[in-house]
Amino acid sequence: MQYKVEIEQLLQEAQSITFACVEEVENYRIRLLGKKGVLGDLFEKFKTIPNEEKREVGQALNALKTAVENAIATAREKFENTVSDSREIDDLTRPSGGENGHRHPIWQIRDKIIDIFSRIGFVVAEGPEIEDDWHNFSALNFPPDHPARDMQDTFFVESGDNTNNISLRTHTSSVQVRIMEKQKPPIRAIFPGRVYRNEAISARAHCFFHQVEGLYIDKNVSFADLRETLLYFAKEMFGSSTKIRLRPSYFPFTEPSAEMDIECSLCGGKGCPFCKHTGWVEILGCGMVDPNVLENCNIDSKVYSGFAFGMGIERQANLKYGVKDLRLFSENDKRFLAQF
Ligand code: DAH
Repeated sequence: MQYKVEIEQLLQEAQSITFACVEEVENYRIRLLGKKGVLGDLFEKFKTIPNEEKREVGQALNALKTAVENAIATAREKFENTVSDSREIDDLTRPSGGENGHRHPIWQIRDKIIDIFSRIGFVVAEGPEIEDDWHNFSALNFPPDHPARDMQDTFFVESGDNTNNISLRTHTSSVQVRIMEKQKPPIRAIFPGRVYRNEAISARAHCFFHQVEGLYIDKNVSFADLRETLLYFAKEMFGSSTKIRLRPSYFPFTEPSAEMDIECSLCGGKGCPFCKHTGWVEILGCGMVDPNVLENCNIDSKVYSGFAFGMGIERQANLKYGVKDLRLFSENDKRFLAQF
């Protein structure tokens, strides 16, 4: 009789038992299923049970064994899950203890340029890095045989004949065309992005780099507006005493075109190896949007005029921080990046 009661009690225990930790599960397992465990004893005593009770008691004993095994298995599973859960959740307010990351210097300069221009009403837009010939070249007034279409400069994705290619964009000027095709003037926007050129990688050239393009189209936009906008930019970017000069230049998509220099910050304009003894360093290209480009984008060039400019972000970083080797920006060397 005592024997049956014991089985009944152990069964109730197995069905309701809870454990606080894995050790408790293990202790329970040893107590019940271990070599000298309770169940072993019960099975031993089973031999002495009168035959007519064997069937009933045997069933109860087997049910108990199954219940004990289930209790152990369920508890183990629960603890396995909680262990990994608790590792994941842990304490979310705990300080990381490691080093903090920050934005890449190229991205910091990009944000600064965006901030400077957004203060005078320029909005940000972006375009695709894989471009067709129309947006990267033709609409921008590049003649079909212009050397910039040459295999040397352009990474082709699909090459057709001269004006039927798909390539990685070689400059962000392509976004000008996309915006002008979509939007009627007034347009006042900047287009930051990555560009690609088929160049041998060296300290001064890379096969990819970053540019910010600017575009302003409205009635009566003049070269003086361009100059004042860029002077404002140079002062905000390089300091309020920064001097600029515009040198005549050539780009297919602007007429007249210019390159803008700032006074060399290293020698204060006296001349040094950095500015090749000229006292000036180039920072961007610019000009009045060529009427052909406006017409290509269905903007009436007799009503509207505008200016455009384009600058390399690495170039600005180079001037601002004196980084001479372009490759450092894409090598992800923490010793370099941590300085910004
Ligand atoms: N797209 C030119 C380049 O990659 C830069 C440039 C020059 C952009 C003059 C302009 C511009 O918008 O007016 O070298």
